[in-house]
Amino acid sequence: MKLHHIIESQQFTVPVLMELFNLADSMERIVARGGTRDYSNKIMALLFYEHSTRTRFSFESAMMRLGGKVIATESAAEFSSFTHGESLEDTVRVVGDYSDVIVMRHYEVGGAARAAAISAVPVINAGDGKGGQHPTQALLDLYTIHREIKTIDGVKVALVGNLAEGRTVRSLAYLLGKFERVKLYFVAPKPLQMQEDIIHYLNNHKVWFTQEENLREIINEVDVVYMTRLEATEGEGMRPSGFFMDESLMKLLPKKAIVMHPLPRANEISPGVDADHRAVYFRQTRNGILVRMALLVSIFDGR
Ligand code: CP
Repeated sequence: MKLHHIIESQQFTVPVLMELFNLADSMERIVARGGTRDYSNKIMALLFYEHSTRTRFSFESAMMRLGGKVIATESAAEFSSFTHGESLEDTVRVVGDYSDVIVMRHYEVGGAARAAAISAVPVINAGDGKGGQHPTQALLDLYTIHREIKTIDGVKVALVGNLAEGRTVRSLAYLLGKFERVKLYFVAPKPLQMQEDIIHYLNNHKVWFTQEENLREIINEVDVVYMTRLEATEGEGMRPSGFFMDESLMKLLPKKAIVMHPLPRANEISPGVDADHRAVYFRQTRNGILVRMALLVSIFDGR
């Protein structure tokens, strides 16, 4: 398997996904023995123009487990020559001379694609803009479903939250749409429903989906509840019914189903849910290390 730029979910095929997941499984043994020195000649550059905890730390950790080195600025928007008006293209050209792969989070939809268009080294999209994509998050999400549910074909997934702007749910919908007999339940207030590009893609690929406004109405039908933030209500202390997971709703969730969240969460999952074995969001974050190690290995070994 040879990977180069990783920009959007649509670029992956099912055989490549399965190969990637097998490789991610094998990374668990490397992590268990404290890592490898195999990639000690490789340098990863981080260009994060937006904040991050999981994506940034897990990519750094993945690179270090592989024996590689990391160069970064705390915030590319504050401490790079972006503040002097340097273009994204010039920055990427220069940073590509100093590294073997660039991991980039950008505030504009299409930022990673712009970087990839001129980059001499592979560019990994770590999230681009509101309503863009976050493909490596979707890969670790799909890997989590693969590990927890044991199959992706036929899986029934509720995607909940701000689906119009949420890049994790957008990337995951594209990936899930590649599998057989998948059913997608889009649960969001009408103004925050899935955008037309995803609907068009799913219709073209004959993927079953429905649009809902209350998780309670469909929770007993699904294998996976994928919660995300409702950005519009953040910070207001609101818990909009229909989009909030608590202990009472968990009682309606099938026994073998799981609750996922890309994190960070705001107020959409009650902390009381965390102890339930079906709440897998912290296992999901750990899977991020394995998948990101597998992606880096596929890029380095494929060059
Ligand atoms: N899931 C995710 O992208 O988290 P961060 O914003 O902390 O990287």
